[in-house]
Amino acid sequence: MHLDDFLTEQWMNEHENDAVYNMTDTCVKPLTLRELFAMDADGVLQDVVLDYGTITGDVRLKQEILGLYQSGTEENLTLTHGCLAANELVMYTFLEPGDRVVSFTPGYQQFTSLPESFGCRVHTIPLKEENGWMPDDSDLEEAFREDVRMLIINNPNNPTGTFFDRAMLEKLIRYCRRNGTILLSDEVYRGRSEEEVSVSDLYEYSISTGSLSKLFSLAGIRLGWIKASTELISTLNVRRDYSFISTGPLADTAALAALKQKEMILKRSEDIIAGNKAVYEKWLADMPYASLVMPSYGPVGFLRYEADIDDVTLAQMLLRDHGVFFVPGSCFGMDHHFRIGFTRDTEETEAGLSILGQVLRKANCE
Ligand SMILES: Cc1ncc(COP(=O)(O)O)c(C=O)c1O
Repeated sequence: MHLDDFLTEQWMNEHENDAVYNMTDTCVKPLTLRELFAMDADGVLQDVVLDYGTITGDVRLKQEILGLYQSGTEENLTLTHGCLAANELVMYTFLEPGDRVVSFTPGYQQFTSLPESFGCRVHTIPLKEENGWMPDDSDLEEAFREDVRMLIINNPNNPTGTFFDRAMLEKLIRYCRRNGTILLSDEVYRGRSEEEVSVSDLYEYSISTGSLSKLFSLAGIRLGWIKASTELISTLNVRRDYSFISTGPLADTAALAALKQKEMILKRSEDIIAGNKAVYEKWLADMPYASLVMPSYGPVGFLRYEADIDDVTLAQMLLRDHGVFFVPGSCFGMDHHFRIGFTRDTEETEAGLSILGQVLRKANCE
């Protein structure tokens, strides 16, 4: 089974530790264990019993996760080690060689390279920068001209920040209903706004995945989940039993303590994201060599720059000479872009952008 290199993850692995100004992290400024303990007013973390715990996940935690959705019971959830493993479990369970899979590009490589490795026929719909990183209706129509086994979306999307509102989701669901296409929606960047609807509240053949990594600032817990109909969850749990026994009481209880404070943690993240977006807006107003479709939601965007230098070379140079770290758009198949995260202290973002600005001006012979 051939599996392509996961370009973004490799880039992060190879270079992230050299960053002085990390401009590309998608996890909002991570919390510490000390901060988590301080939030744990009920003291649940003190009493963790280190057995396997409840196999498909702590029931109290499932109740808290359900608070992020409009519908569902504990039977509609199963827990995983992060959202990446959640997506993998879904694809392994429901895809077979020859199946047609549709996703969007630029997008997260897991949604295309993994199904390709199973022998699926993967079709990608372009997200168009000139449309504010939205797809064309004609491309959607084209994608569904044949039977589609699985449509995979990421809402909001990494790297473009594309956000599908309820009307757009309903449009996609109408296509899926034609022949019972499974809609896998990676909602790892979903926040708490009412507009950020989960497909698992809209369509019976949908599967929503999520985790605490991004807006909850707790990637280190490695706690994710899958929400779907009871039938789909039961099928997923059969394969899940062969992959891992449980996510374990330590992760489950840490996640429980965090989700009990979800309003506070999400407000913190919203403030950090808003602060960083404001820094970008100010910088862009005086920068003729860069542009950005500012995302409505989520901590991720896709910055375009103008200069006669490819993005891998520019990213390497920025890191080597200045400690400024970006993931090049080429890791998502699109040159002359950088994937950006609105996730760090604003001082770090300001300093990094100031250096990027100087480099772009020089490259354009100013
Ligand atoms: C779209 C998407 N899904 C999943 C993940 C991984 O999430 P987790 O840390 O919950 O495994 C990432 C991480 O960058 C991501 O961008």
